Amino acid sequence: MLTPEDIKAKKSKHEMISMITAYDFAFAKMAEAAGIDQILVGDSLANTMLGYKSTREIGMTEMLIFAAAVCRGAPNTHVIGDMPYMSDKDPQTAYDNARRFLDVGCSSIKLEGTPEGVIEFLRSKDIPVCAHLGLLPQTAENFKQKGRTEEEARAIEEAAKFVDSLGCFEMVLEHIPEELGTKITKEVSAPTIGIGGGKFTDGHVLVMHDALGMHPNKIPPFATKFVDMYSVGVQGFKNYIESVKARA
Ligand code: KIV
Repeated sequence: MLTPEDIKAKKSKHEMISMITAYDFAFAKMAEAAGIDQILVGDSLANTMLGYKSTREIGMTEMLIFAAAVCRGAPNTHVIGDMPYMSDKDPQTAYDNARRFLDVGCSSIKLEGTPEGVIEFLRSKDIPVCAHLGLLPQTAENFKQKGRTEEEARAIEEAAKFVDSLGCFEMVLEHIPEELGTKITKEVSAPTIGIGGGKFTDGHVLVMHDALGMHPNKIPPFATKFVDMYSVGVQGFKNYIESVKARA
């Protein structure tokens, strides 16, 4: 299993880092069998697994059930627990919740933005933190690309340097211009993991349901569908129904 130090070392060795979200035992097992570097139990499970419109709809209770299942399915893979909305509302609450992720087997936690004093406190307690900058789905008013204006780009760049200085072992950069993703990647020591951050980040993460084509909906412009599992699944169910009807 890759440690946070192994992941940081990949940047110096110019080795790309692969991360995918997964939310349950079966898919975590598949991701581990494929040799993924890291699995993120993203709070996107609110949308992908539970059908909510917003990631704000879920809390630690749900996250821990899914995180524990992923850890059982991928016992040899670095699993990141994603701190859900308000679970990091102050340093002590964030620490208690981060510990709960580690207690079910996660190797590290991820949190959105730079909530006041939180990353500092977690790092002082040796919690491995993956930062998340750019588009922050928990608090964003819309899902448009961030960092397009000079002011917004500067704020994201400053935040990246800040979380780097606090010792975050990596940072997700979501939906920002390629030039900004490239600039930040050169400026920080922690690996950058892009999801719509351009081609030149140190690694990439995708939402599993987009990458595996698990739904018939449009996927974000920066995502790629590598297989069409929705069609495969529907066809499998049809075959089963036919077989039942034929008393086979
Ligand atoms: O919850 C999630 O899936 C995420 C990714 C988009 C990085 O945070």
